[in-house]
Amino acid sequence: MKILSTCDAIRNLIAQYKSNNVTIALVPTMGHLHAGHISLVELAKQNADQVIVSIFINPTQFNQASDFDRYPRSLEHDLDRLSNLNIAAVFTPQPDEIYPQGTSNTTKIIIPDLTNTLEGLCRPGHFEGVCTVVSKLFNIVSPDIAVFGEKDIQQLLIIKRMTSDLSYNIKILPGPTLREADGLAMSSRNSLLSEQQRKHAKQIYDVLKLTKDQFSTNKIKSLENNASSFLENNGFRVEYFSIRDAKNLLSISQDTENIAILVAVWLGDTRLIDNLLFPMP
Ligand code: PAJ
Repeated sequence: MKILSTCDAIRNLIAQYKSNNVTIALVPTMGHLHAGHISLVELAKQNADQVIVSIFINPTQFNQASDFDRYPRSLEHDLDRLSNLNIAAVFTPQPDEIYPQGTSNTTKIIIPDLTNTLEGLCRPGHFEGVCTVVSKLFNIVSPDIAVFGEKDIQQLLIIKRMTSDLSYNIKILPGPTLREADGLAMSSRNSLLSEQQRKHAKQIYDVLKLTKDQFSTNKIKSLENNASSFLENNGFRVEYFSIRDAKNLLSISQDTENIAILVAVWLGDTRLIDNLLFPMP
């Protein structure tokens, strides 16, 4: 496994692969890897000849400097974990490799739809940062396939939209959400929780499941309100708990085939998101 930190080094490696018709999958991450990330790498391996994992804590997608500073970092441990997986390379650029003009003065990718709701409303500028960095990674690595987790379902839909709108010849492959034994979705941010908060955090998935079990199209508002109240009464600060059409994140309509229940909460100083996807019953 090569550890490469410059765009030129990655481009040289990719050029060799392309000249031999080797297919490439990219798995973008911000590091502090957990089994959910690893499952995406495994999915990538099943769908391409060679896999590149990027580890870059992208400053432009953090709307608060404190959140960026607090984001967990464990590069040595991450490289160790990846070294057993038989992947081609890890791309570990420094910020000035990705943003040579600085972060405030860079060209940005703005997606008009899907970004002005849920995460987009709570974290202004977040998806601009995500789309900008992912588009740069696409241009640097030129993968055939890129893998993204359903854990961040809004991000996945937005990346699909960007890929189509900007005519990237890249197949976006979704990976299912991996969970801890008690149901909590794996996340790099889980390591920021205290022991007590960690025990408490399982309730997020419990409420998602309960809401799914009780789902009915004529009860949507009350299900959302009940779930939010339950979480608020149990020490969470709820940013949203919302039942949407999984295709476009609009309200449920007669055309809805699949449903997404999406939640964002704060537990102390840590923000957690999760979702549950299921077909319209
Ligand atoms: P990060 O949060 O590190 O996540 C990297 C990828 O892992 C994303 O596609 C995310 O959806 C997926 N992932 C996270 N938790 C998961 C879980 N429990 N099960 C399965 N997949 C999971 O998402 C980002 O980084 C960044 O926004 C990025 C796309 C890298 C752009 O900077």
